[in-house]
Amino acid sequence: MHQTEQLKIVIVGHVDHGKSTLVGRLFHDTGSLPDGKYEKIKAACEKRGMPFEWAFLMDGLQAERDQNITIDTAQIWFRTAKRSYVIIDAPGHKEFLKNMVTGAASAEAALLLIDASEGVQEQSRRHGFLLSLLGIRQIAVLVNKMDLRNYSDKVFKSIEDEYRAFLKRVGVEPRLFIPVAAAKGDNVATKSSHMPWYNGPTVLDALDRFQVAEPPQNLPLRFPIQDVYRFDHRRILAGRVESGTLRVGDQILFSPRNKFSTVKSIESWPQGARQSAHAGESIGVTLTEQIFVERGQIGSNEEDAPIETDVFNAKLFWLGRQNLEVGRKIKLKLTTEEVECQIQSIEKLIDASTLAEIDTKSRPHIARNDVAEVTIRTKRPIAFDNADRIVNTGRFVLIDHYQVCGGGVISKGEYPDRRQVMSGVKSRNIFWSAGKITREARERRNRHKGAIIWLTGLSGAGKSTVASELERELFAKGLHTYMLDGDNIRHGLSANLGFSPEDRTENIRRVAEVARLLMDAGVLVITAFISPYRDDRRLARSLVNEGEFIEVFIDAPLAVCEERDSKGLYKKARAGQIANFTGVSAPYEPPVAAEIVVHTDQQTPSECVAQIIDFLNQRYIDQQDWVI
Ligand code: ADX
Repeated sequence: MHQTEQLKIVIVGHVDHGKSTLVGRLFHDTGSLPDGKYEKIKAACEKRGMPFEWAFLMDGLQAERDQNITIDTAQIWFRTAKRSYVIIDAPGHKEFLKNMVTGAASAEAALLLIDASEGVQEQSRRHGFLLSLLGIRQIAVLVNKMDLRNYSDKVFKSIEDEYRAFLKRVGVEPRLFIPVAAAKGDNVATKSSHMPWYNGPTVLDALDRFQVAEPPQNLPLRFPIQDVYRFDHRRILAGRVESGTLRVGDQILFSPRNKFSTVKSIESWPQGARQSAHAGESIGVTLTEQIFVERGQIGSNEEDAPIETDVFNAKLFWLGRQNLEVGRKIKLKLTTEEVECQIQSIEKLIDASTLAEIDTKSRPHIARNDVAEVTIRTKRPIAFDNADRIVNTGRFVLIDHYQVCGGGVISKGEYPDRRQVMSGVKSRNIFWSAGKITREARERRNRHKGAIIWLTGLSGAGKSTVASELERELFAKGLHTYMLDGDNIRHGLSANLGFSPEDRTENIRRVAEVARLLMDAGVLVITAFISPYRDDRRLARSLVNEGEFIEVFIDAPLAVCEERDSKGLYKKARAGQIANFTGVSAPYEPPVAAEIVVHTDQQTPSECVAQIIDFLNQRYIDQQDWVI
């Protein structure tokens, strides 16, 4: 019979809970073993006076496979009348994680084993959590070794109840719980006569009921570059189409770094030249224009490109022996991209076995077997997708000392997609006209220099209060000063912007540009915006010369700002009436090296203003160039 359908499954469970036995059984009972193999091992066991073990059989098969280099040792096959199955070998969960993330091996369904004589173990819970994290939704739980517990329905039921309740808490609804005795074959391929109280399907029936995932053909094109081969001046880009379809003649955008070219030809082996390639196919591509593309970049269509950023949210599973601390440098691998990254902050820490939440204040690092919700910052921008949209470009592993030590799933979270900002200027053929009056001339007339005093902090921290008092003081000193305030700008210049991460980035970009113009006109500009993203503030700073940008962190603990709640917005945000509210449902990244930090919970507005003016005096008056 010709079988084309194939389902990838993973079998997970505590080390002694009978994985090899089950696999051996599945092979034997489906007639998938090589001829005479079973008899041979059986005879060998008898000869040595040992009881027959299915595990020996699988070990024997594995050894043969290891010698045959043409067979991928990480995957083994068996078949039922309905279709064939690939078992993604998971000797330990590190390998499993690695296989899952390399995409090629992602499992579509899982069998999770629990030993009836031992019950739900820590590892059983962790495995359940890991499956939920990786988004594997088709799960059957096998309560194995029922023979050791007299095939008792009570034992089965109590394990089922306990584990079902656990899985529910991590958001997994298993399809089935099946009582089995893999060594004896009960409920594996044939219904057991020992458990008349069980009326559900056997393991094989359960497998056949799972669905094969559609290759993600209908999703946007994602073509991560694996390698670039150069022949003369021609370049061939090799990789696997992870989703969508790639066609000759398509214009392709490579991210990060926004480079375009058109597909000239597609080649694959052994088919040769072709017009298109689909999700799941490995191909080589040539482009009409020989642009510089490198491993790790993702090809897509322009209209539906991946997200591009260097800061994002992730849920990760940590298996490293060494703790993972905030700020430690570690390698992140996503499809073919590798980049140095660090955990910027830990939002939530959970013990994967007990599901207890760990207080990040008392333990500010991620320990082995923790699941953490984190913000990750990469050394340079990378391209990815939210894992709930395109899973293959939304999963990653973390590599520490050359070992896979963790993995996770990404979401952009409340961070902006920086594609627009990084792609730079859209308008062409424009030139900066310098004008006849120089900045120096204006400064001489004003008798002081221009600068940008950039206030940042949470809503309610006191930015506007400090800014307006500072403005008054500077004005009173006879200086040319002007304040740009968040609420005011959002009434006019930024009236078309909301509070999504991208809108905030655009808001701050506009403010920074206006501040630069005002400064060029000789003004001491004061800005009062939350400006929650570090990258946005860095951009604002980069527009002017060193020393002209003075970042002031208006610091007050969230609790204090919330207590003040002068506009009643925190209350609304907590009640879910305002989305993306900074500090509540959107991030605030405090400055790492602000020129000035004031604490409005400890200092009065006048004290804060005095501190800022002191700084200005020192920097400018002492250097004799504050007032010219
Ligand atoms: S920023 O993030 O883009 O820098 P900005 O400083 O302009 O914000 O505006 C913040 C002001 O808008 C707050 O002081 C508050 O009055 C109001 N606001 C309305 N919705 C939100 C929100 N979701 N998050 C923060 N502030 C908000």
